[in-house]
Amino acid sequence: MKALILSGGKGTRLRPLTYTGAKQLVPVANKPILWYGIERIVATGIQDIGIVISPETGDEVKAKTGNGDRFKANITYIVQDRPAGLAHAVKVAQPFLGDSPFLMYLGDNLIQDDLNQFLEQFTQQQLDSLILLRQVSNPGAFGVAKVADDGRLLYLVEKPQVPPSNLALVGVYFFSPTIHDAIAELQPSARGELEITDAIQSLIEQQKKVSACQLEGWWLDTGKKDDLLEANRIILDSYLTPEVLGEVDAHSQVIGRVEIGAGSQVINCTIRGPVAIGQNCYLENCFVGPYSSIGDRVTLIDTDIDHSVILQGAKVVGIHQRIVDSVIGQRAEVTVAPRRPKALRFLVGDDCQIELM
Ligand code: DAU
Repeated sequence: MKALILSGGKGTRLRPLTYTGAKQLVPVANKPILWYGIERIVATGIQDIGIVISPETGDEVKAKTGNGDRFKANITYIVQDRPAGLAHAVKVAQPFLGDSPFLMYLGDNLIQDDLNQFLEQFTQQQLDSLILLRQVSNPGAFGVAKVADDGRLLYLVEKPQVPPSNLALVGVYFFSPTIHDAIAELQPSARGELEITDAIQSLIEQQKKVSACQLEGWWLDTGKKDDLLEANRIILDSYLTPEVLGEVDAHSQVIGRVEIGAGSQVINCTIRGPVAIGQNCYLENCFVGPYSSIGDRVTLIDTDIDHSVILQGAKVVGIHQRIVDSVIGQRAEVTVAPRRPKALRFLVGDDCQIELM
């Protein structure tokens, strides 16, 4: 059994964060989204992992993630020259996959459920494909499954205008090598992509053994800002283990589950967990409230922040009106003059959103 993680694509929905980097490397609780997927896969015992990357962001994914040693896995990188669809990515990965069955994992998905039970079902029942489903309130944004009352999978449709159910396809799939024949016959969809949903639909039409399981735990497709904040909240809630490696002065209060990385300094601050603070940060006269992740080398001075994600190298100074539900990109600077500012001065990148409330 092998695994294939899809970490190419364009990442348009997370712009501007993804203008300069891969969306799968955007951190959740200070760890790249992609790494959670790798860890989930390794926990099933699969060690041979192929990661599909794009020419634009692939080098960054490779440099950050490495050859797999840190996960006790063997990682092979596969370049997909253009984002021509999930099934196209499988086609490009065929030399890596050979005739092995495989687990396919979309690199921007986070799931709570352990994958072992699904792998077991796929193997024991000798399925051609096992897909995972989850009820959602906006099925039109996903692949959607129609399931009979007895649980049989009837058909699948990608991003339908009129969804036949509220069961979305989660970005985790199990395939036997039969999928390659189905992909070879595919035509591009209306959005010009080779859709994996269409390939699975063709397996269903050929009466191959395709089953679906419903996920019980949470599932997050981290495509947009609010999804990212929600993923950050859930991961901090579920997994953060308190550990203070940096320095906290006697005037500071650290309450609840808080992680502070090596080399960070916290001076006269209140930190109310769950909060993750990376390495080599400098925080002075700040309140950092629950569900915040502060990346490495961030500077926060005279600032109050809550339920937000600050990426590495950013600097925020002089904002005691509370910053909430915010994502601040790498190396961004937000500063307010010590006296009440008489004017606002911006250098704001494309696709940024600023709300003064
Ligand atoms: O997240 C679940 C959904 O993922 C499913 O419900 C849909 O059926 C499925 O088509 C997919 O839809 P998305 O529109 O969300 O896929 P997206 O374009 O965001 O790509 C998913 C991942 O695959 C992402 O990490 C980028 C990567 N990718 C995407 C394309 C189109 C590639 O590596 N190569 C590609 O060509």
